[in-house]
Order: sequence, then C-alpha cells, then structure tokens
Amino acid sequence: MSCSLRPVGRAQRARFEALASATGVFRPAEAAIAVQVLDEALAGDDDYRFVGAYEGDADALVGFACWGPTPGTAGTWDLYWLAVEPAWQGKSIGSTLLGEVERRLAADGARLLVVETSSRAEYAPTRAFYERRGFRRAALLPAYYAPDDDLVIYLKDLTHGVLAGTAS
Ligand SMILES: CC(C)(COP(=O)(O)OP(=O)(O)OC[C@H]1O[C@@H](n2cnc3c(N)ncnc32)[C@H](O)[C@@H]1OP(=O)(O)O)[C@@H](O)C(=O)NCCC(=O)NCCS
Repeated sequence: MSCSLRPVGRAQRARFEALASATGVFRPAEAAIAVQVLDEALAGDDDYRFVGAYEGDADALVGFACWGPTPGTAGTWDLYWLAVEPAWQGKSIGSTLLGEVERRLAADGARLLVVETSSRAEYAPTRAFYERRGFRRAALLPAYYAPDDDLVIYLKDLTHGVLAGTAS
C-alpha cells in the first residue's frame, strides 16, 4: 500500500478529528486533546510535530503521528499519538509513519523515544506493533488510567546502544 506523507494542515482539521475518534481506542477526551494540540502546532508551537499519511495523491488523511521533545530531558522525545483509520490499518501505514518520525528524530539527534499506552485488551495489537519495532516495555504503572487500566511505557533506544546492559 503506498501512501504519501505530508503535513497535517488546517484543511485536514475536521478529517483529523474524525480520524482520532474513529480508531475507537482513544477516549473522547483524548481525541479532543489531539485536536487541541494540532491547533497549537498549527499556531506555531514547536513542542508538537505532526505528519499525516494520505491515500495516494488525494487529500484524504488516513493516518497521523504526533511527537515532540520531552521537556527537561537531554534528547528524549515522546511519541504522543500514532493512529491509522481503521479501514486502512494493517497496510503498513503505521510502520511508514513511525519510520518517518524516527528519520526526523535521527536528524534532530534524538536519543530515546517514549510511548505511553494502555494495558487494556483492545491495545494488545498496539503493544505488539511497538514491541516488534524495537520498543522495549520499560515500566508499568498499575491502575494509572483507571482501576483496571495500567499505564505501559515503552522505550526505543534511537542510539542503538545507550540502554544496552540496563535491566529489561
Ligand atoms: C497501531 C497502529 C498505529 C498500527 O498502524 P497500522 O497501519 O495498522 O500498522 P502496519 O500496517 O504498519 O503494521 C501492522 C502491524 O500492526 C499490528 N496491528 C496493530 N493494530 C492493527 C490493526 N487494527 N489491524 C491490523 N494490524 C494491526 C499488526 O499485528 C501488524 O503487526 P506486524 O507487522 O508486526 O506483524 C494502528 O493499528 C492504529 O491506529 N491502532 C489504533 C490506535 C492506536 O492504538 N494507536 C497507538 C496509541 S499509543
């Protein structure tokens, strides 16, 4: 499946909002935050970077990634969101978006990439996605999101060595 990667602009705002809701794994408040963060990025906030995946050459946004530097760290970045329209999942778009984020992070001299996700059953494919792409489960905060919903933190060593030898 070929998709093109381009910025997410104001013209895609409604489509972006629908996409954030359509994945079904973001709570309504999380989808609303994603839109708010996009607005801040479009207003020039460099703490949040976005890239969109588009179907062919059309203007149809089918996925996006949002990431940014983690405040107060040396070279650590957060991957805040990675989402692909349900009908387009499993066609390498998520991998393409993640690859693009990592390519840009390499250019920015990034050291660590952090992903926070949930322990809920519906996130199992998401956790497997990250684990097969070099992310290591680094921490689990029990009952963080809700009594039966833990926070799972993944790390990817972008320097291919800085974490070597630390406990897994
Ligand atoms: C996780 C996600 C971004 C992956 O994007 P994608 O385009 O489906 O991924 P790709 O096609 O590049 O890769 C498919 C891989 O992801 C896994 N996967 C995860 N969710 C999947 C889904 N709904 N459909 C198909 N494959 C899925 C597959 O098992 C496959 O694994 P493998 O290639 O290692 O064998 C996407 O499924 C998604 O948006 N999920 C819902 C939102 C979400 O959980 N985002 C992350 C929040 S932190």
